[in-house]
Amino acid sequence: MKIAVIGGDGTGPEVTREALKVLAAVAQDESFTYELTDLDWGGERYLETGEIIPEGGIETLRLHDSIYLGAVGHPDVAPGVIEKGLLLTLRFQLDQYINLRPVKLYPGVETPLAGKGPEDIDFVVVRENTEDLYAGIGGFLKKGTADEVATQTAIYSRKGCERWLRWAFEYTQKRNNPKGKRLTLVGKTNVLTFGHDLIWRTFQEIADDYPDVEADYNHVDACCMWFVKNPEYYDVIATTNMFGDIITDLGAMIQGGMGVAAGGNINPDPGGTSMYEPMGGSAPKYTGQDVINPIAAIGAMGMLLEHSGKPAAGKRVLNAIQSVTGNKMKSQSAGKMGFSTTEIGDLVCEAL
Ligand code: IPM
Ligand code: MN
Repeated sequence: MKIAVIGGDGTGPEVTREALKVLAAVAQDESFTYELTDLDWGGERYLETGEIIPEGGIETLRLHDSIYLGAVGHPDVAPGVIEKGLLLTLRFQLDQYINLRPVKLYPGVETPLAGKGPEDIDFVVVRENTEDLYAGIGGFLKKGTADEVATQTAIYSRKGCERWLRWAFEYTQKRNNPKGKRLTLVGKTNVLTFGHDLIWRTFQEIADDYPDVEADYNHVDACCMWFVKNPEYYDVIATTNMFGDIITDLGAMIQGGMGVAAGGNINPDPGGTSMYEPMGGSAPKYTGQDVINPIAAIGAMGMLLEHSGKPAAGKRVLNAIQSVTGNKMKSQSAGKMGFSTTEIGDLVCEAL
């Protein structure tokens, strides 16, 4: 297995180090080998060279099975530059059309939702990752004048809907929730009457091929309400890029915060290169202090394994994480965990 590693900025390299430690331990336990390519891409390199992705960089990535990304974002670089130049570029160039974001409350982790526990908060968001408002289509008219007009166009293609929604149905079927297999499409069909109509029609057509999966629909605003009121309702959610961006931050909060939430940018096609990352940012103020929570980063490594042909290893990592959150950690907040970043990594390795 060939993995490209982008530790990135701020605390990114620290949490990446712990994830790689867990990878080494689980590879030994499960007797598989892997090769790492360390890439110094991120804010620091950009400030030195003016370059975000070096020439031929995308081609280099294509030679790998997967990419592990710590975090990017540098206080001396204008917001959005690295995010667009690295994260969004990789998602688009490598056609990682699925953004998979589990919302799972681990044992021992505090949720702001009163009266809800791990059995209530356990669902997965399948966010479309290459279309919608993220396509970067738009422009200005009469820029800088009082008559200025700006457009930002959301696009949805039949092919894009088809591949994303079919993957979501397949995923729901395989997840095989004992409470019942339910795929909830989250959109805004009452207002976005063209784009979300295409999505809705595609969804209904594909649903016919999966009679064992309940094909369900929620408007996005109602979905936000249910996340807080009845999160146990959800099994798998399929949603568009922009709505997925927003609702998964809410999801991250109900599962205990950015220190816990992980995600995968997946290109499921044969030979596709996928990228896994903790959802949080580079948290520059904690850099070098050994206080940042590496659980999300280790979880992202678990997802990488699960989706790169090593599901048993992925499962072991997930179980080890849950044993550490359930039995050891005092909190999921940086500096309040009761352990250092390094110690949490060690505890997960022990728990394996
Ligand atoms: C995310 C992030 C990105 C997004 C930003 C950094 C471009 O918020 O991964 O959710 O909007 O997708
Ligand atoms: Mn986001």
